Amino acid sequence: MAPATSELLFPREIIPVSIQQRLGPDLEIRPLASSDHSRGHFELLSVLSQAPALTKEHYEAQFASMKACLNTYYTVVFVNKATDQLVAVGSIFVERKFLRGGGIVGHIEDIAVSKSMQGRKLGLHLINALEEIGRNTGCYKIILDCSKENIPFYEKCGFTHKEYEMVMYL
Ligand code: ACO
Repeated sequence: MAPATSELLFPREIIPVSIQQRLGPDLEIRPLASSDHSRGHFELLSVLSQAPALTKEHYEAQFASMKACLNTYYTVVFVNKATDQLVAVGSIFVERKFLRGGGIVGHIEDIAVSKSMQGRKLGLHLINALEEIGRNTGCYKIILDCSKENIPFYEKCGFTHKEYEMVMYL
């Protein structure tokens, strides 16, 4: 059953209508819902990394803390309408800066398209949706980290290679 509006992470209207038109009638694009734990969210994320499922309670608490940060977290999903399962997911979160005249930077994170649906431009449509959300929320740039293997994909989505990533695991 489709989630109620109150379950969504952010208002549906923030997602550009043009992306739904590109997906066709079998798939729906919408914001992540607090009930998506049961629609294969973790199975989907496992194409990206090890993704042990959170308990339902932990998932809902994490979701609630994201939703409480107004105008910050935008996680978008593509849903197979026939199975009511997620087939693609990706996020952009918004960082407010003191630099750049109080500018806003969008960070794209955790992009995953289910294995059986890869190669059908869903990744491209997903990035296009996140890009539009970034544009409409006032971001002056969008950045992301990816593996060397995924550079051609992001180049096809309009990104260019810049800088290096550093990490410290805690
Ligand atoms: N290498 C080279 N080209 C690629 C690759 C790749 N790894 N992946 C896609 N492309 C190309 C496609 O051939 C296509 O090119 P075309 O327009 O000339 O035909 C174009 O990029 C768009 O491809 P899509 O069909 O939209 O790609 P897909 O739906 O398969 O999504 C994605 C790509 C997201 C990388 C998917 O394969 C996936 O989920 N992989 C596993 C998880 C992953 O690596 N996620 C990204 C992590 S980085 C991050 O999250 C910020």
